[in-house]
Order: sequence, then structure tokens, then C-alpha cells
Amino acid sequence: MKSYIVGNWKMNFSVGESSVYLHKLQQKIRAFRSVEVIVAPSLVALQPLSLQVDRKKLRLAAQSANPHDFGAYTGEVSFTQLRGLVDYCIIGHSERRQLFHASDKDIRASVAAALRNQITPILCIGETETEHTFGETHDVVRDQLLGGLSEVSTEDISKVIIAYEPIWAISTTTGAHLASPDEIADIAKFIRRTLTETYGKEAGENIPVLYGGSVNPSNAGAYLTVPGINGLLVGGASLVADQFAEIIETAKKVQD
Ligand code: 13P
Repeated sequence: MKSYIVGNWKMNFSVGESSVYLHKLQQKIRAFRSVEVIVAPSLVALQPLSLQVDRKKLRLAAQSANPHDFGAYTGEVSFTQLRGLVDYCIIGHSERRQLFHASDKDIRASVAAALRNQITPILCIGETETEHTFGETHDVVRDQLLGGLSEVSTEDISKVIIAYEPIWAISTTTGAHLASPDEIADIAKFIRRTLTETYGKEAGENIPVLYGGSVNPSNAGAYLTVPGINGLLVGGASLVADQFAEIIETAKKVQD
């Protein structure tokens, strides 16, 4: 199966800086059939970058969008408006859930809207530190997974990507809270079992499941070889083109 390396830039870089970064990254990386490279810049940079991007090397993603196609939703941008600019959209990132109160209803409507507009949803799921400590990870992951996918038909399920991001492992600078490959393998297996029970064996085996949380060039190889994991969702390290390119190279080596 293909591997996916996604860089989530979050709210970083001006439009000019985004363009300089993209130019640099495109010079550094080669086009790989086995690794799909995706960057998710800030919304304001998507239109100019969509003209600059070399689609043989990488694809663009939005970080969030509004599930309504058009209408009186001041300040929002819809999947319909993003159609043609991006191939992917991150949906239900923990920062959207926690800081901007994205509800389960918004998230499942967003997944459906992405599919309706030919944009591949990257559905993020993951538990908080407290839920992790109290052994509630499987329950939370199952609820977020099935909640987010509840409007997706069996026919469309193959068009979805899942990203497991335990909130306690995001942006840890000390490394004290890094998720271990064994923990991630357990959750990847659980996600696949849940998908199989709901959508059948093929979905359980073939839907890409990514890992995210403090991924960097030194640990990328270990995370990419976790059974059941098909790629990485990278935050901080994706902001440095050299580091992101190194992670992409690692993914290529693991695929070979
Ligand atoms: P970090 O890689 O900075 O931990 O961020 C992970 C993340 O939230 C990606 O979506």
C-alpha cells in the first residue's frame, strides 16, 4: 500500500513564506509513486500554492472547511469553494475539536461534504491525556471513528484516510510523552478491527491509517514500520523543509 506523509503547517507562514517553502521542498524531493506527499498550508495560501504546486511531487490539503456548500456563514470557507484547489482536507483535528469546539455533528458533516466535493477527508481521531490515563482510549477512538464516518456509505469508505493522533503526544518538546510503537500498533489494530466490523474486511485492511504526534526525522522510521500504519501526519517538523524532506526520504526507504 502507498504511504502518506502529510505536513500540517497549522497557523504558520505568510503567503510569501509558504511559496518560498514550497519551492524549496519541490527542489529537494523527487516524485515517488509509493509515497504520497501532502502539505496543508494556511487557507490564505492555498490559491497561490495551487498554481505553484508540482502535482507529480506533492498535493495540497486544507486544514479544515465548512460543511455547508454556500450561504450565510460569515468567515467560513466551504469544501465546494476548495474544490479544485486541494485534493485533501484534514477534518476533526484535535485543535479544531478542543479550541474551536468542532462537534461530532460538524465533523461527520465535513467528511460527507469533502466526499461530495471530490476532496479526500483525512479524519483525525485521538484521546486526551486523561482519557488515556483512565484506559478509555479504545472507547474514544471508536466513538470518534464511527461518529466521523457515520454518513459515509460502504461505497465511499475506500476514499477516506484516518489519522490517529493521541492528544497527549502532540508537540512534546521534552519527549516525555512520546507514544511508543507498541501503543500505536495496538490502536491501529483496533481501528482496523472497528472498520472491518462496520464496513467489511476490505475496508479494514485497505483504508490508510496514519500516525501523528511529535514525529521528527529521528523517529519517523520507527513509526512508519508500526504494523497497520501507512503514513504520518507531521506538525512541527513539517515547518522545516529539510526535516520534512528527510521524513519523506525515510518513507520511501521503508516502502522499498
Ligand atoms: P506535532 O508533530 O507538532 O506534534 O503536531 C502533530 C499534529 O498535530 C499534526 O496534525
